[in-house]
Amino acid sequence: MSKNLITLQNIKKTYYGAGEPVHALRSVSLNVQSGEMLAVMGSSGSGKSTLMNLLGCLDKPDAGSYIFAGQDVMSLDKIQLARLRNILIGFVFQNFNLLGRLNAIDNVCLPLVYAGVSARERDKRGRKMLSLVGLEGREHHLPRQLSGGQQQRVAIARALINQPGLLLADEPTGALDTATSEEIMALLQYLHREQGLSVVIVTHEPDIAQHCQRIIRLSDGLVVAEEQVLKPLQAQIQAV
Ligand SMILES: Nc1ncnc2c1ncn2[C@@H]1O[C@H](COP(=O)(O)OP(=O)(O)O)[C@@H](O)[C@H]1O
Ligand SMILES: [Mg+2]
Repeated sequence: MSKNLITLQNIKKTYYGAGEPVHALRSVSLNVQSGEMLAVMGSSGSGKSTLMNLLGCLDKPDAGSYIFAGQDVMSLDKIQLARLRNILIGFVFQNFNLLGRLNAIDNVCLPLVYAGVSARERDKRGRKMLSLVGLEGREHHLPRQLSGGQQQRVAIARALINQPGLLLADEPTGALDTATSEEIMALLQYLHREQGLSVVIVTHEPDIAQHCQRIIRLSDGLVVAEEQVLKPLQAQIQAV
């Protein structure tokens, strides 16, 4: 039997700003199993990114319960939350969020600098990770010297450098054309299959969601639908 990596119950999140409070998540309950690949869909403003931020322990819910890898997230302070996040969770975003002045390997190894890993060990792990995502030989390229798909691969390598068990990807193919999106999905499916990585992907695109094992739909801060994908599409690996 597979076990739950994530158990969310009746999670609520409200933003208080200048105007009316925004109830971004009204009451969300969700399980993610260890080793699962899950898609989160929903229109703009439905609460997808808010959910990802809570899943990723970047922010805390106002109410509800959240158990991540057996730990009660609600009871952790900021430092404990940051530690859990750094060790167990990797993030990927639509616009890659690479540092433009750092080359590929330095971007990938940045989390290791913060963790105090030696330069020699960083180089070794960075090269291995870039090779895993199909970018051997591009270690010293700057982001602007790489295609969008290659930049997203660098971002994925950076997200995985600390060997987290969970990858959270918020619209990872949102800035990419169809063929390049397929490449990125092939990579995520490979990492899911071969490394047992749990993956949660936010996407607008039904085709992308069909590469996952399960799809949930958010609307106005609530989970309004859930479906198992009986035969997830297998993305074709293409030449880099
Ligand atoms: N930091 C914030 N402050 C105030 N309102 C926010 C903030 N982040 C998101 N919201 C609002 O919360 C709702 C959900 O946003 P979000 O989670 O980003 O949705 P999605 O990712 O599905 O587009 C939206 O109405 C949005 O405007
Ligand atoms: Mg969003």
